[in-house]
Amino acid sequence: MSDVPTITLNNNVEMPQLGFGVFQVPPQDTEHVVSVALEAGYRSIDTAAAYHNEKGVGKAIVSSGLPRDEIFVTTKLWNADHGYDRALRAFDASARRLGLDIVDLYLIHWPVPSADRYVETWKALEKLAADGRVRAIGVSNFGAEHLRRLLAETATVPTVNQIELHPYFPQTELRALHAEHGIATEAWSPLGQGTVLSDATIIRLADRYGVTPAQLVLRWHLQLGNIVIPKSANPTRIRQNRDIFSFELSDQDIAAITALDTGRRIGADPATFALT
Ligand code: A2P
Repeated sequence: MSDVPTITLNNNVEMPQLGFGVFQVPPQDTEHVVSVALEAGYRSIDTAAAYHNEKGVGKAIVSSGLPRDEIFVTTKLWNADHGYDRALRAFDASARRLGLDIVDLYLIHWPVPSADRYVETWKALEKLAADGRVRAIGVSNFGAEHLRRLLAETATVPTVNQIELHPYFPQTELRALHAEHGIATEAWSPLGQGTVLSDATIIRLADRYGVTPAQLVLRWHLQLGNIVIPKSANPTRIRQNRDIFSFELSDQDIAAITALDTGRRIGADPATFALT
């Protein structure tokens, strides 16, 4: 794994900058797909309670035979589990399904502002970190207003905010806020759920660098400093998405990709999303 750089989180934990995401991977396929990813050299796996596939992730880790400390595992607390006590119980259930004593990174999946409990939930994550159950705690889908509230009302700055981020939605302002506070930016749907791969500018630049559109976009993320977790169910594409360390984009081309910003999300809006 020597060619995958790590990002040093604000609590000094090292996190691989490239990981493998299992959103929408069916539970019965997860062990196999994660095994393919581990064989391809991925050493960071991103799951969530809401994906219903934590068990498959855990089984793939065991069957890989890799030492536990060589794999970085992220999971997330679902919206129905906000609140201090519920959050502690939700973590125990996730850890049990994963078959792990310690999880590397635990995230609040969505802020659910309508429930107004994310500050309380965050305090439970602080306890999990203090108790050594998790190596790092962070958030996902937090907007500037939600981050500012955690910063004002709690003692721990999130290590990571995992957000929708791709060339059509590059999140320039939120990334700047993260940088100001030492929060690492992690991109979900880094390929815009595949939509950016048929963009004319992306295709033209990919041809020029002699790479695929997906490799070009993933390289753009790395050079912006994002942690990135592409997902694919296809072994060839799983390996292709891992092969992004032997070329470099010019500053001008990075700017051209960032300029594809449409200002529109593909996924849910964190200000209103409250599905339980
Ligand atoms: P597949 O599983 O068939 O490879 P995102 O991570 O932005 O949500 O995008 C994921 C989508 O992009 C999936 O539908 C996945 O399909 C597709 N995908 C992932 N990697 C590649 C690739 N290298 N080339 C083309 N499509 C890809």
